[in-house]
Amino acid sequence: MKALTWHGRRDVRVDTVADPTIEEPTDAIVRVTSSGICGSDLHLYEVLGPFLDEGDILGHEPMGVVEAVGRDVTDIAAGDRVVVPFNISCGHCFMCDRGLQSQCEVTQVHEHDTGAALLGYTKLYGQVPGGQAELLRVPQAHYGPIKVPEGPPDDRFVFLSDVLPTAWQAVEYADIPEGGSVAVLGLGPIGEMCCRVAQQRGAELVFGVDLVADRLERAAAHGVTTIDAGQHDDVPAAIRALTGGRGPDSVIDAVGMEAHGAPVGKLAHTLAGMLPDAVARPLIQHAGIDRLAALYTAIDTVRRGGTISLSGVYGGALDPMPLLQMFDKQITFRMGQANVRRWVDDIMPLLAGDDDPLGVESYATHHVALADAPAAYAAFQHKDDGTFKVLINP
Ligand SMILES: NC(=O)c1ccc[n+]([C@@H]2O[C@H](COP(=O)([O-])OP(=O)(O)OC[C@H]3O[C@@H](n4cnc5c(N)ncnc54)[C@H](O)[C@@H]3O)[C@@H](O)[C@H]2O)c1
Ligand SMILES: [Zn+2]
Ligand SMILES: [Zn+2]
Repeated sequence: MKALTWHGRRDVRVDTVADPTIEEPTDAIVRVTSSGICGSDLHLYEVLGPFLDEGDILGHEPMGVVEAVGRDVTDIAAGDRVVVPFNISCGHCFMCDRGLQSQCEVTQVHEHDTGAALLGYTKLYGQVPGGQAELLRVPQAHYGPIKVPEGPPDDRFVFLSDVLPTAWQAVEYADIPEGGSVAVLGLGPIGEMCCRVAQQRGAELVFGVDLVADRLERAAAHGVTTIDAGQHDDVPAAIRALTGGRGPDSVIDAVGMEAHGAPVGKLAHTLAGMLPDAVARPLIQHAGIDRLAALYTAIDTVRRGGTISLSGVYGGALDPMPLLQMFDKQITFRMGQANVRRWVDDIMPLLAGDDDPLGVESYATHHVALADAPAAYAAFQHKDDGTFKVLINP
């Protein structure tokens, strides 16, 4: 089959690789029909190379049609249309029972002390071949795959793999009071969906911050009060001015470790990208190489006693945090990879009708063939050509 594989920093290619097969009784094989490119894939493209091997298949936002199932997979069968969550979770361990599927104790990667294995996401998360491919082996398929009805286009359901549950959890964790306010930092696919979900769930005032003009416009078009971080020296002050001097009840950081606006982090990032893997790995895992611009903005922006919800991914362990300000402002923090299955039943009703309240059917800006995926990665990274959300149709 053909698959999108990693070859080095900013170097992904479409290769011919062996077809996946059923290896465990809990596996399924899915023929992929749509597969998203995510901001998390850009971290692999740019900085997390030391945790990848040449030829690793990327992608963690797939859906498609079941081709075959192992003997312990009884809830889905060949021919079913399914969305595959990006976390690989068993559905019956201590963590899964508590709705913490991204911490599944059956698939945790003990070698690196990390949570549940993820599709297509480095050695840190199990080095499981991903879904930007014609075929995908789905481990723990007795639990993971979400059956969806025939009829509507893939775009209606594909975001259940990551974007929708991630945004839903980010909003849940942001704990916005009834009729309250939230500022969303980063208006990429995750941040924009956070805005839509927050509006849908009753937030009165939704602010959105980014530096990319067409992303700001996109959010403004559905009632988000946008702030262009490129036009304001002091984003927290600008948002405070719009919230009676107090700051919003909640802030969602949907930017992550590659934030623009912190040159020291950029240097460390570049360095880590150049070093031999054995040297870079501990640097990324155990030292602070992130660009923390967005996180600092979140801490400064949120009102006293407010909540910060972190969905942007960070990597370093020793990044300096402004503990004095965090303590003094009495801020609550919640964060983590989305527990995909935890939120599916909450989200499904919003995908079931024809009214499409979250606008999922028109969410993707680009649909590309697998052969064109490498170019789409570059365009998504540079945010060229209005590239906002790309779906690969293998
Ligand atoms: N927690 C999870 O389960 C989960 C799931 C998916 C994605 N993510 C993470 O969410 C983040 C966003 O993903 P995405 O797909 O939307 O990616 P993206 O890269 O398209 O979006 C990031 C946006 O942040 C903007 N930005 C950069 N610096 C900024 C700053 N200082 N202030 C404000 N905005 C700034 C960029 O212009 C961009 O629009 C990534 O870190 C990704 O890894 C987390
Ligand atoms: Zn993703
Ligand atoms: Zn589990």
